[in-house]
Amino acid sequence: MSLAAAVLLVLLPAVLGDPDDARCLSSLHRSLSDPTGGLHNWTKASFAAPCEGFISQLQGVTCNNGRVYKLSLPALSLAGAIPGELSNCTNLQSLDLSSNAISGQIPPELSSLLNLAVLNLSSNRLSGPIPRALAACAYLNVIDLHSNLLSGQIPDDLALLVRLSTFDVSYNRLSGPIPVLLANRTTSTSRFNASSFVGNKDLYGYPLPPMRGHALSVLAIVGIGLGSGLLSLVLSFSAVCLWLRATDRTATMPGEEAKISHLMPDY
Ligand SMILES: *[C@@H]1O[C@H](CO)[C@@H](O)[C@H](O)[C@H]1NC(C)=O
Ligand SMILES: *[C@@H]1O[C@H](CO)[C@@H](O)[C@H](O)[C@H]1NC(C)=O
Ligand SMILES: *[C@@H]1O[C@H](CO)[C@@H](O)[C@H](O)[C@H]1NC(C)=O
Ligand SMILES: *[C@@H]1O[C@H](CO)[C@@H](O)[C@H](O)[C@H]1NC(C)=O
Ligand SMILES: *[C@@H]1O[C@H](CO)[C@@H](O)[C@H](O)[C@H]1NC(C)=O
Repeated sequence: MSLAAAVLLVLLPAVLGDPDDARCLSSLHRSLSDPTGGLHNWTKASFAAPCEGFISQLQGVTCNNGRVYKLSLPALSLAGAIPGELSNCTNLQSLDLSSNAISGQIPPELSSLLNLAVLNLSSNRLSGPIPRALAACAYLNVIDLHSNLLSGQIPDDLALLVRLSTFDVSYNRLSGPIPVLLANRTTSTSRFNASSFVGNKDLYGYPLPPMRGHALSVLAIVGIGLGSGLLSLVLSFSAVCLWLRATDRTATMPGEEAKISHLMPDY
């Protein structure tokens, strides 16, 4: 192989662009709405070669060896949904779409991003479950999903992510027990404290208190019911006693004395 051919082979992917990356970026652009024009230079022409000259011209896109390896688009008022085709950026290591207005579900297809190390989708309007399949991204060391509308249980399988050092699912609508293996990890030096889990009404178990939320509110309702029942019983009993006493006096003591004793019962 001649030197020229070798040089061409090295440069070709960067010049032509990777078709998977192009599909990934154009599909992301299609599914997001961009009211403030933060993605103004995300054009069809630039998708074709997103890593041209090894430095991307696209806002928020970082390339390495001619492939997209980092997508960082925080706080751009982006709305819309995350497309499953994002998984076509097969070399992606870091995905940050935090502090936007993105809704819909976290696509389970992200699990095919086998190099993904950082996933920051915090402060959006994402709903639905945390995909169990994310456990397949073995290099994940940051999962930040705080302040969304995610529901369902935290998948047990996430405890398999041995590199996980930051995990934040606070302020969502998650429910059920916190997976013990995730909370009491022995595989890693990092343990996750309550601040990773707070703000989910129906989530319980270490490092949060056991059986919070629902179980507690049922107890509270029963407690309030019993308490108020007892109180009204005591009140009506003493009212009856006072009345009996008063009528007893009126019956036995005629005239003014009876009226006075009626007003000021003798205890
Ligand atoms: C694309 O937009 C970003 C941010 O607005 C800017 O930094 C970058 O230089 C732009 N690239 C081109 C080719 O216009
Ligand atoms: C691109 O994304 C689609 C939708 O998720 C998927 O079916 C397809 O297999 C992906 N292609 C690659 C190369 O990852
Ligand atoms: C995720 O993004 C938010 C907002 O951009 C930032 O404050 C937070 O520190 C990021 N999370 C991690 C773990 O870096
Ligand atoms: C998890 O760790 C906490 C604190 O060390 C402990 O109280 C709790 O019993 C542990 N749970 C399990 C199931 O090991
Ligand atoms: C929880 O851990 C983080 C670091 O992982 C720390 O910054 C924070 O202060 C801790 N919070 C509590 C309540 O211990």
